[in-house]
Amino acid sequence: MKYKEPMFKAEELKGKTILVTGGGTGLGKSMSEYFLKLQANVIIASRKQEVLDATVKELTEANPDAGKIIGIACDVRKPQEVEAVLEAGVKEFGEVNGLVNNAAGNFISPTERLSPKAFDVIVDIVLKGSYNCSLILGKYWIEQKLPATMLNIVTTYSWTGSGYVVPSAVAKGGVLSLTRSLAAEWAKYKIRTNAIAPGPFPTQGAFSRLFPEGLKEKIDPVNRIPLKRYGEHQELANLAAYLMSDFSAYVNGEVVTIDGGEWLYNAGEFTGLEAVPEEMWDIIEKQVRGRNKG
Ligand code: HXC
Ligand code: NAP
Repeated sequence: MKYKEPMFKAEELKGKTILVTGGGTGLGKSMSEYFLKLQANVIIASRKQEVLDATVKELTEANPDAGKIIGIACDVRKPQEVEAVLEAGVKEFGEVNGLVNNAAGNFISPTERLSPKAFDVIVDIVLKGSYNCSLILGKYWIEQKLPATMLNIVTTYSWTGSGYVVPSAVAKGGVLSLTRSLAAEWAKYKIRTNAIAPGPFPTQGAFSRLFPEGLKEKIDPVNRIPLKRYGEHQELANLAAYLMSDFSAYVNGEVVTIDGGEWLYNAGEFTGLEAVPEEMWDIIEKQVRGRNKG
């Protein structure tokens, strides 16, 4: 099975300069590393400069023949800080022509326990952060007549909704709508917009907040996934690289689910019948066929 291996091997992202929000950790870091290996230049941006510096050092040392990476502290909720990142990216690399809206905040909680501020903090990072970056980079691309690609990292509960992560569900639903809306509106400027909806991929940021110890023993997330494993970072990075590359030039407004079948498995009315032991099916079949005669 090749899913742990890099899909592209060469310089498929050469000439691209991609801003990855939340690129200092987790999935953002994995995508950034693969973009670098494919010779893109990468700007990572999140709130903690020390995290960004450590990631820049690590990825630069591990990939000496790759593109160049810089890290600029930025709170995506603040438009002026996003403007400053763009400015620094243009100064360093000449232009910026890709954006991955990956930064997010999330935690599990019964909704009735949330304060308005707790709701705001998630919606502001996820939805406001994504539209701030999309708007600021979009205006720049349109003004400069630069073809560009945007990729938004959403979740499968962007369309199903989910209890216990309601601010995140509301915000990610908005980001999915942003994806489809801008795909339609900005294609005329040669700006493509797509999304990836991952199922569970182990990261410290997500798993510590969503599947804390104790709870994880009671509700093992792997049991919800018909392929019975988590996602591998490289397989998500492969998909992201494809969507950011020119190989996906005709893909626009799409949301690609990468969850091992998780959301459909749990949505399907009769999926739970897999708990029925093989030998019981003879009895069940007899009963059901019996109804046909009567
Ligand atoms: C209830 C909570 C809470 C909790 C915080 N709050 N945690 N309320 N239950 N567990 C409330 C606080 O009391 C406060 O409201 C308000 O939220 C803001 O909290 P702060 O701690 O001041 O915010 P801040 O320091 O800015 O931290 C933001 C954060 C934090 C979102 C709360 O978790 C964070 O920095 N996250 C970034 C990384 C992250 O979340 N990664 C996971 C993404 S995973 P009051 O009213 O009390 O002041 C993901 C995956 C989805 O999205 C799909 C998985 C399958
Ligand atoms: P993560 O490591 O916690 O990544 C979130 C990143 O967002 C962090 O680097 C964080 O850095 C940054 N961030 C948070 N608030 C910010 C702000 N206001 N401004 C700028 N940056 C901010 O978690 P992850 O699992 O890799 O998540 C990455 C993306 O994948 C998210 O969009 C998440 O919703 C999505 N996703 C993850 C999973 C999963 O199973 N892991 C599943 C579905 C979707 P700072 O705290 O330093 O700012």
